[in-house]
Amino acid sequence: MEQPPRFDEKAARRVEAVYASKEEVRQRAFVMDALAPLTGERIVDIGSGPGYVLRDLGEAVGPSGGAVGVEPAGAMIALARRRCAGLAQVTLREGNAEAVPAGDGEFDAAIVTQVYEYVPGIAAALGELRRVLRPGGRAVIFDTDWDSLVWNARDPARAGRILKAWDAHLADPHLPRTLSARLREAGFEIQRRDVYPILNPEYEPGSYSFGMIGIIVPFVIRFGDLPKEEVKAWAAELEELGRAGEYFFSLNRYLFVCKKPVCKKPEKNPEEK
Ligand SMILES: C[S@@+](CC[C@H](N)C(=O)[O-])C[C@H]1O[C@@H](n2cnc3c(N)ncnc32)[C@H](O)[C@@H]1O
Repeated sequence: MEQPPRFDEKAARRVEAVYASKEEVRQRAFVMDALAPLTGERIVDIGSGPGYVLRDLGEAVGPSGGAVGVEPAGAMIALARRRCAGLAQVTLREGNAEAVPAGDGEFDAAIVTQVYEYVPGIAAALGELRRVLRPGGRAVIFDTDWDSLVWNARDPARAGRILKAWDAHLADPHLPRTLSARLREAGFEIQRRDVYPILNPEYEPGSYSFGMIGIIVPFVIRFGDLPKEEVKAWAAELEELGRAGEYFFSLNRYLFVCKKPVCKKPEKNPEEK
């Protein structure tokens, strides 16, 4: 199978459109509430994508703070630059979660939403996250487990083939289930875990799952080993289910809030001079 490239301009624009859906807007409020950014803080958004979260961060930290987006895809950086124009406290750095272009302890907090699931070297990425946070700094991580997907189909075997091919868009489509252990291994204290469900019980233009059909179809046609007709027939079936009042989509995302511990200075041995 051909390896998926970084987000090109077309793919970045599709993601940008889906992220304008009401489900994604609500999700951003949930995630930002968990991070609770304060005026004047320095916060890094790793894998900042089209820049919606970055803009919210910039507004929250204000001109006395700093919001830094780190992103490998040029097309995403361009979208984020446009979205955050006028916020001098927002800057973008081209870079990768496995080698974050930032100094040790540079940030009070970090946010990484729907990014680590794309990263092959998760241990290296969590090491980098810890490095760029100050002692006591916090991080919010948010990822999908695609096994939580419930998507009605009249031909479940065909839907299964398509969604299996779609799994290849991620390095780990099931990251949340192992993330607690990985965070502890990387030296973080876990403070909160939560689930965030997306529910689309109707086939509705502008909804999250409607937009995702427009992302999954071209991806599976290009990178999967399935006939184009089969992929298109699946999408047509979803529309039919909508007309028949039988459409149903639900997917879970998982939130992790963790902290880089403050290393206490070792107690001085009283016998030591
Ligand atoms: C689904 S988008 C999420 C964007 C943004 N975090 C949000 O929630 O709006 C995934 C983003 O992760 C970026 N990405 C993929 N692999 C990455 C890596 N190894 N390091 C940093 N970012 C990466 C992609 O380029 C893309 O912009």
